Amino acid sequence: MDIKAEDLKILFSEDQIQTKIKEIAAELNTLYGSEEVYAICVLKGAVFFAIDLVKHLNMPLKMEFIRLSSYGSGFASSGKVNAVDISLPDLNGKNVLIIEDIIDTGLTAKFLMDFMHCNFKTKSTKFCSLLDKKITRKTDIEPDYYGFEIDNKFVVGYGLDYEGYYRNLKYIGYVEEK
Ligand code: IMP
Ligand code: MG
Repeated sequence: MDIKAEDLKILFSEDQIQTKIKEIAAELNTLYGSEEVYAICVLKGAVFFAIDLVKHLNMPLKMEFIRLSSYGSGFASSGKVNAVDISLPDLNGKNVLIIEDIIDTGLTAKFLMDFMHCNFKTKSTKFCSLLDKKITRKTDIEPDYYGFEIDNKFVVGYGLDYEGYYRNLKYIGYVEEK
């Protein structure tokens, strides 16, 4: 199957996404108070979510960007996580907030949590994902914070891509199966 722009249905509108982000930000503001946070954005998909989320966070905050890939192309997870660029500062003793676009099988999230535990003794490590496809999970990982739970749909927009396209949509869309 190929995804055509005219076949896309809106799953979450721009308004719904922005409202949800403010709700998550309020929870994080409560959690961290005035403690410093290192927000780690997982490129490329989470960049839209991360940028919008951190604008609503009030604590002293530094942003880092790492690049992983698990989806080679198309719809099916390759089952392997590639660390394309995972250079990070010293996170020992820091509050770390990992920001992802979606948790699907959970392999990426697991890889990241393991990476943190192996490399740093952080003060805290929290995982925040805009979307959570609980139904396709193959690991025991659960996000500490998530925006929306979705069923087994392939979604695009607001950072999420199909073969590199559609990241720039303001909304999250899907193709209805006929
Ligand atoms: P996981 O390792 O299987 O949890 O997959 C996580 C990564 O797969 C995400 O960071 C996305 O980049 C990608 N992904 C999973 N589901 C979708 C989807 O429905 N649309 C676009 N990308 C997806
Ligand atoms: Mg991603």
